[in-house]
Amino acid sequence: MNTPSTILAAIPRRLHLQQDHPLAITRQLIESRFPDYKYHNDLFPVVTVGQNFDSLGFPPDHVGRNRTDTYYINKETVLRTHTSAHQADTFRANESAGYLISADVYRRDAIDRSHYPVFHQMEGARTWDRNDLGGHSTLEEAIWANVAKIPKHPPSVIEVEDPNPTIHPERNPLQATHSAAEVEAMAAHLKRSLEDVVVTIFTAARNAAASSGTPLSQSDSSEPLKVRWVEAYFPFTSPSWELEVLWQGDWLEVLGCGIVQQHILDNAGVSNRLGWAFGLGLERIAMLLYSIPDIRLFWSTDERFLGQFGKGRDIKKFTPFSKFPACFKDVSFWLPASAPSASPPTQSPSEPSTTATTTTSPAGGLTPTESSSHTVPNTFHENDVMEIAREVCGDLIEDVRLVDQFEHPKTGRKSVCYRCNYRSLERTLTNEETNELHEKFREELMGRLGVVLR
Ligand code: PHE
Repeated sequence: MNTPSTILAAIPRRLHLQQDHPLAITRQLIESRFPDYKYHNDLFPVVTVGQNFDSLGFPPDHVGRNRTDTYYINKETVLRTHTSAHQADTFRANESAGYLISADVYRRDAIDRSHYPVFHQMEGARTWDRNDLGGHSTLEEAIWANVAKIPKHPPSVIEVEDPNPTIHPERNPLQATHSAAEVEAMAAHLKRSLEDVVVTIFTAARNAAASSGTPLSQSDSSEPLKVRWVEAYFPFTSPSWELEVLWQGDWLEVLGCGIVQQHILDNAGVSNRLGWAFGLGLERIAMLLYSIPDIRLFWSTDERFLGQFGKGRDIKKFTPFSKFPACFKDVSFWLPASAPSASPPTQSPSEPSTTATTTTSPAGGLTPTESSSHTVPNTFHENDVMEIAREVCGDLIEDVRLVDQFEHPKTGRKSVCYRCNYRSLERTLTNEETNELHEKFREELMGRLGVVLR
């Protein structure tokens, strides 16, 4: 068990289901583009290691499984790190050709304005039955007939860059049981469906920006939306891609997707089916849609935040309430003797980020280490610092970043310095309050990580 009660307390919040919450509105906007799909919005976040990792083909030593990156309830049970945890079960239930799953997901990660240990994803999948071609003579023909039904937006609306071949023998291989023609058809269906989603979202976002009277050059609605498909890797799809969108000068990853690994469908008892899946981060999309500057805001119960969304109104830009002062405080400490140097937390494609693109494993994490927030670990991982900061400070901490690393030339001991930015989104913090938070943070670091404060 490495899951603090502050994280468990998020489970009943269900922000994606809360009426007029920006995450719920974003979810519904995407759902409206998949009217025939079955929506699953109520799946419980505690899943088995089998559901979250094994069923999807994650190797036993995959870094995403580490306790530094994933919240365990016990040895066999975790808080899902992605909605893909429900793929196998949903395929097995075989209730509809297409489905969408929206849900809260949990990852130990960095603290900044676009990372929060609980966020929301939407997973989508569409499969076809080899034994039911709907009157067509081949499967690819049946799929192309479905492709023709998806709205295709002209280049004046969306400019799509897709320079790579659908299949690349080394970088993005075809699966043994699929023909190239089948994969071409499924890839076309997948890409056209998702291009339609981003047109819907970004048209709404640009209209919102324009109606607020501050249209930025890139949000000028006369310019086509620019997107690009890039090759990607996930253990549970092949070939795989990510979709990036040019937004205010930066390429942003908005989703990961690909052709579902056939072993998942075979194990789910539907080996006659094949298809595609995608996963996107709802916070990232909602932050773009409404120009929401800080991910903590989604958890706010303040009417100055919640009152700005929905209620039958058009989507319009979020107006931040006055920005309260930042208070920076540093903490420096010596790492325990055996510790490697500080490893930065990592991001994954479907996590929200306001910065340009990064690519890592779908469940995050690159540095295998062992740690726990309840016993003193013998190695050090930055995510443990982040977690203690969240536990002690809740949403009163905006950002924690490594600003200095130092190795003693004689003893070889390593020292690190983190800069904490204390700031409430709702009020001005007093000096005594921030001092108290910082003091408590320092004590917990010392007591729980076994580090020596400087
Ligand atoms: N689960 C992946 C993630 O969290 C996203 C994904 C879903 C990729 C479905 C491919 C297919 O990053």
